Amino acid sequence: MKIIATDRVGAEHVLDGRDGWSVMEILRDAGLPITAECGGACACATCHVYVDEEWLGKLSPKSDAETDMLDMALAVEANSRLSCQITCSDALDGLKVTIAPE
Ligand code: FES
Repeated sequence: MKIIATDRVGAEHVLDGRDGWSVMEILRDAGLPITAECGGACACATCHVYVDEEWLGKLSPKSDAETDMLDMALAVEANSRLSCQITCSDALDGLKVTIAPE
């Protein structure tokens, strides 16, 4: 599956997702500026992304932990998600995300 990620200067990157990996891991391994301080434990919100509207409804709903972390994050929008909580799968082929400001 492909992930289309827009970075903080507006450049688009087409990345190869890996089944079962989190979107955060794919962004980080591609060298995009995502801190992911907690390593994917849903405890830092430094993997915050905006999900393209057309994909939002296709993701699994947020856990309470993700909702709580996003409550404390900055620049949160209705389409904010933590990328470590999105798991790559074929159903998400073409997923579009934008890396949120730091
Ligand atoms: S990497 Fe820390 S919340 Fe996602």
